[in-house]
Amino acid sequence: MRGAKPLAALLLAGALATGCADDDSADSAATEPGVGPRLTVSDAYIPEPVNAEVAGGFLTLRNEGDADDELVGVTSELTETVEIHQTVDNAMRQVEGLPVPAGGTLALERGGDHLMFLDLPEALTEGDTVSIELRFATSAPIAVEVPVEAATHTGE
Ligand code: CU
Repeated sequence: MRGAKPLAALLLAGALATGCADDDSADSAATEPGVGPRLTVSDAYIPEPVNAEVAGGFLTLRNEGDADDELVGVTSELTETVEIHQTVDNAMRQVEGLPVPAGGTLALERGGDHLMFLDLPEALTEGDTVSIELRFATSAPIAVEVPVEAATHTGE
């Protein structure tokens, strides 16, 4: 049993190295037909809400695959009510989904499209983390740990 921990560490290191190799091959694989959408999430954050019961959520979805996908839903343990909002002419409205085009990006950002967390049971504070799961028309769900940032945070 004494050797169990070093062995586990080696296995973990091997898994990480394999993961990197997969990432390297993803670029060439994405150009082959039939790969489908390949989504990655970055720059996720929730600004500390001013109104304690409502929070916006922002992130960037990149699709390096060869097929379009669509963000069709968001779930969170924080609240049952998470909506996808589109901003048009400074007014926001709920939509069924937002496209993540092949080779393109869906940017959810301040002043634009965003996630909306409603009916928050408790106040969110800078430093908190909110677990969410993004659901798509094609891709498997993606779990994201979203940090709560300062109210003025812009993701820059
Ligand atoms: Cu909204």
